[in-house]
Amino acid sequence: MYDFLVHFHSGWRWVFLILLVLALVNNLIKWRQNATQTPADQKWNLYAMSAAHLQLIVGFILYFISPKVQFGGESMSDPVLRFFLVEHMITMLVAIILITIGYSRGKRGENETARFRLAFWFYLGGLIFVLAGIPWPWKEAYGAGWF
Ligand code: HEM
Repeated sequence: MYDFLVHFHSGWRWVFLILLVLALVNNLIKWRQNATQTPADQKWNLYAMSAAHLQLIVGFILYFISPKVQFGGESMSDPVLRFFLVEHMITMLVAIILITIGYSRGKRGENETARFRLAFWFYLGGLIFVLAGIPWPWKEAYGAGWF
């Protein structure tokens, strides 16, 4: 169960990142073109947000079963334990909140151009936080892989 969830969480990052970039580029292009919003535009935003929410759920399950999360004050003085206990969780939570706001603004902005523009900026903010919060394999101490 634990192994499956870690691999799922690791691999799903790519699905999520691809969907996030696709939604972001779509919002940017349509914003610059002053395009009319279609149901397909909202679907791209929805796919990215849903992928983020699934990652959030799996992340929170891992949070309570992973040996890399040790509850207790001592974890704060160990960079790897602090990363998984606090930094990864908070960074990703902020990212997913930004994406969720972006989705809702993309539906309810005051006009169509504003909807694309707001969804773009919130999704871009989310992407920056996600990229900053991933335990990339080159940060070797975190012991995480590519998939
Ligand atoms: C978009 C959001 C997220 C992305 C892209 C993401 C990505 C990742 C990646 C790539 C790993 C390394 C997996 C490996 O070992 O190969 C990881 C590990 C982990 N993530 Fe996330 N994560 C996200 C959100 C969260 C959240 C919100 C939580 C907790 C509340 C969380 C908890 C964890 C934990 C506990 C581990 C360590 C698992 C282990 O190796 O034992 N993640 N995450």
